[in-house]
Amino acid sequence: MLDLIWINGEILHLSDARISVEDRGYQFADGVYEVIRLYGGKPFTLEPHLDRLIQSARGIEMNVPLEKPALTSEIRKIVAKSGVADGFVYLQLTRGVAPRNHVFPDNAKPTLLFYARPLPPPQLPGVGEGVKLMAVEDERWKRCWIKSIALLPNVLAKNKAVAAGADEAVFIDGGVVTECSASNIFAVIGGKVVTHPVGSKVLPGITRAVLLDCAATLGIEVDERGFVEEEAIRASELFITSTTREVSWVARWNDRYIGQARCGPVTLSLHKELRRRVTAETK
Ligand code: PDD
Repeated sequence: MLDLIWINGEILHLSDARISVEDRGYQFADGVYEVIRLYGGKPFTLEPHLDRLIQSARGIEMNVPLEKPALTSEIRKIVAKSGVADGFVYLQLTRGVAPRNHVFPDNAKPTLLFYARPLPPPQLPGVGEGVKLMAVEDERWKRCWIKSIALLPNVLAKNKAVAAGADEAVFIDGGVVTECSASNIFAVIGGKVVTHPVGSKVLPGITRAVLLDCAATLGIEVDERGFVEEEAIRASELFITSTTREVSWVARWNDRYIGQARCGPVTLSLHKELRRRVTAETK
C-alpha cells in the first residue's frame, strides 16, 4: 500500500504534500469535503458523493474545478495506485491561497485534494456491541446541508460524548433530535422508520439516502419528520448511519437502554439490504 495524494493535479507521497498557511481552508475553514467508502478497492456510491460535493461547493459560492467524469477517473486512479482495498477516500476542496481577508479573493485557485486510507472491514449486520449516544445541545449553524470542513461544534460534541464514556453525540435542537456529530439517526416508532428531514440542521447523508431506498425495497414505511428526545428513548429501535460505519444499532441513550438492548429486526434487515447493494455495486 502506498500513501499517495492527488493535490491540484499532481500525485505525490502524502508526506511530500504542502499547503500554504494562507490557504483559506486553514485560516477560515473556507471549504467543503467528502468521505467515500472503498470496498475491495472500489468506491461505493461515488456519483451521489460527487453530486453532494457540487451542491456543498455551490453552498459556499464555489465551483468544483474538475468536471464529474474527470474527477471520477482521477479518484479511481489514485485509489488503484495507492492499493487501498477496504478504506475510504477523503476529498477536500478549499477556496485556495490568498492574503488573509474575509472578503473572497478575486483570483484564488481552489485547492482540491484527495487520498485513500485503509479501514478495518465493516462489521456484519447485527454483530457487535450497540452504540452509546450522549445527547448534546445542537449549537451548529443553519446550513448543515453543506458538508463544510468547519467541524468544531461536531468535534467538541463528539469529545464531550467520548469523555462521558459514550461513542457518539446526538444533537438536540429545541428538543428535536436532528443528527449525530458524524452520522444520521433513525428511530423505529410503531413499525415506521422515522428520521429528521435533511436541510438546515441535517446533512443529506448518502448512507441515509441509500437506507431510505432500502426501506422502500423492503416495504418498510418511512416518516421524514422531526422527533423529540422522549420518542427516541421510547423507540423500539434506534440506529445511526454513515459512510464509514454503514449502520450501527444504538444500545443506549445517555443512561437509558433502547428497545430490547440488541440489534432490532428493522435495523438488521435494512443493514442486510445495504450490504446486498454494496456487494452488487463493488463486486
Ligand atoms: N461524516 N451527518 C454528519 C454531520 C456527518 O458528518 C456525516 C458523515 C453524516 C453521514 O453522511 P454519509 O452517510 O454521507 O457519510 C451525517 C463523515 C463520514 C465524516 O465526517 O467522517
